[in-house]
Amino acid sequence: MKLWYSPASPFVRKCLILAHERDLADKIELMDAAANVVSPDQRIMASNPTGKIPTMVLEDGTVLFDSRVICAYLDSIHDGKKLTPRSGAKRFEIMTLEALGDGIMDAAVNNRYETALRPAEFQWKPWSDGQMGKVNAALDQIEEKWLKSLGRTPNMGSITIAAALGYLEFRYPDLKWRKNRKGLARWFKRFSARPSFIASKPD
Ligand code: BEZ
Repeated sequence: MKLWYSPASPFVRKCLILAHERDLADKIELMDAAANVVSPDQRIMASNPTGKIPTMVLEDGTVLFDSRVICAYLDSIHDGKKLTPRSGAKRFEIMTLEALGDGIMDAAVNNRYETALRPAEFQWKPWSDGQMGKVNAALDQIEEKWLKSLGRTPNMGSITIAAALGYLEFRYPDLKWRKNRKGLARWFKRFSARPSFIASKPD
């Protein structure tokens, strides 16, 4: 299977962490996308009109997007413990934690586009503050109520939160998100040592 990707994308990283955790990485051919928000990669647009990465193309030509769908697919093709429980309350708990991680990534990537790509004269600080407000509120909620769900062994929620925190480290090195979030900082230190996290690190 082929994965249209950019090493900087936290949504791609989430898929790659999963793939490494379940021995699927060797089965994935990484395809360098030449995508950006104003000029999407036409090779991706041909099968995914949103032009977004990650986009996955299976051997039979089936196209999968977005990262949640790709991760659900990857989780369906290995014989190990499922990263999203198949049923019960725990399933929805882990899916909600995944959505929270995706929300952090959405807000942080949106703000990155605003501050790094949009011409300075068009940038709107209240909008940027709003995006980073969401990031901070989500991190506060994780510290207050999600540490147990993050757990010691990876699940789809914890993988997504790790990818989100990895992106904050990469693009927002001055954010100091660990302040007053000691539990999350401890958890992330442990997760950061996992081979899957190291192997998927952006250059
Ligand atoms: C980035 O460079 O920050 C980035 C690249 C691709 C997708 C999302 C973010």
